[in-house]
Amino acid sequence: MEERPGNKHTTSSRLSSSKSAQYGHAGQAAAVDVGHVVQGMASQAGSSSRLSPHVVIIGGGLGGIACGIALKTQLDFHNFTIYEKAAELGGTWRDNTYPGSACDTPSHWYSLSTELNPDWSTTLAPQPELLAYWLSLARKYDLYKHTVFNTSVVAATWNAGRHEYEVFVTEEQGGAERRSVWARAVVSVVGILSEPYTPDIKGLSTFTGPHFHSARWDHGVDVRGKKVVVVGNGASAAQFVPCLLRSAGTQVVQFCRLPNWYLYGSRADYSPRRRWVLAKVPLALRLYRLWVLLVSTAYNP
Ligand SMILES: Cc1cc2nc3c(=O)[nH]c(=O)nc-3n(C[C@H](O)[C@H](O)[C@H](O)COP(=O)(O)OP(=O)(O)OC[C@H]3O[C@@H](n4cnc5c(N)ncnc54)[C@H](O)[C@@H]3O)c2cc1C
Ligand SMILES: NC(=O)c1ccc[n+]([C@@H]2O[C@H](COP(=O)([O-])OP(=O)(O)OC[C@H]3O[C@@H](n4cnc5c(N)ncnc54)[C@H](OP(=O)(O)O)[C@@H]3O)[C@@H](O)[C@H]2O)c1
Repeated sequence: MEERPGNKHTTSSRLSSSKSAQYGHAGQAAAVDVGHVVQGMASQAGSSSRLSPHVVIIGGGLGGIACGIALKTQLDFHNFTIYEKAAELGGTWRDNTYPGSACDTPSHWYSLSTELNPDWSTTLAPQPELLAYWLSLARKYDLYKHTVFNTSVVAATWNAGRHEYEVFVTEEQGGAERRSVWARAVVSVVGILSEPYTPDIKGLSTFTGPHFHSARWDHGVDVRGKKVVVVGNGASAAQFVPCLLRSAGTQVVQFCRLPNWYLYGSRADYSPRRRWVLAKVPLALRLYRLWVLLVSTAYNP
């Protein structure tokens, strides 16, 4: 939360003075004192909401980050809180660390028009680069201090008397106790992929080997020399199966229930010279982005 001019008795001042360290950085926020946040929010919304309404954003993925940036840059609005159930921002790109994880929308297009990046290494950026890009934006726009980590929003009820939502949150590791905060508006950007689905496969519970969902890849498992069974042939499998096959001695058995469509696509690295041109030549980056859009639309109409 940021302190607003003329709004000195809000949550903002209390949080920024006593709790800012806990909002710090990647994965450090497990000890966020939601009790304090909630108490503060309630008094803020109750006493000064006419001056500065409070907005709750549910989810700190790309949508939550983009929303926070837009509130600040387009509306000069700063009294918002992002609730994120995990310990870091980034959503999809925080969770999908499997080998070969990358976007298949061109990198220059799969990024904010207001935050062009001349440094994408390839036409289809890999997950670490995408995550780094979005977390750098979160740092640039100071979104960490707006974010309460390890905290899920579980319900929201419109209170007609107050003209506000009562938003109920629980700490992920803190038991089932629900607390509430008040918000004039609630923006849900929870995505559709943040809860991996594992089918109820007969025998899975008694299988003693390692098994995991691709969205929660267990990097402690060394697949070299092992027989790996892959269930499914969606976009994730299409990316990691070729990587598995490049591991020495790994044998892959893939179960494909329905056939899939694959569109032609190729990844090409950007040379240092190309990146220099994009970074230094006026308008080159913006025009290139437009060209990327036209080409990708032509290939995937
Ligand atoms: C491997 C992979 C590659 C992809 N590639 C592309 C691509 O090339 N192009 C494309 O357009 N799309 C792609 N997608 C889709 C991608 O998910 C979206 O582009 C985008 O990242 C979704 O962002 P989001 O913020 O809406 O959701 P998410 O990234 O899912 O973020 C939602 C956030 O909300 C949090 N959350 C959820 N519920 C709650 C709650 N109740 N309380 C608090 N926090 C909560 C989650 O922990 C998460 O951090 C890809 C997806 C995957 C898995
Ligand atoms: N853009 C990218 O580069 C990229 C990369 C990865 C993921 N994504 C996106 O992320 C989302 C998730 O992708 P995903 O590949 O992880 O999942 P997905 O697209 O939902 O694919 C799941 C796969 O598992 C199979 N499956 C599910 N239950 C099964 C069962 N009981 N038995 C056998 N097979 C079963 C499905 O088969 P059926 O088809 O027969 O149901 C499908 O092949 C998608 O929207 C995708 O577009 C995008």
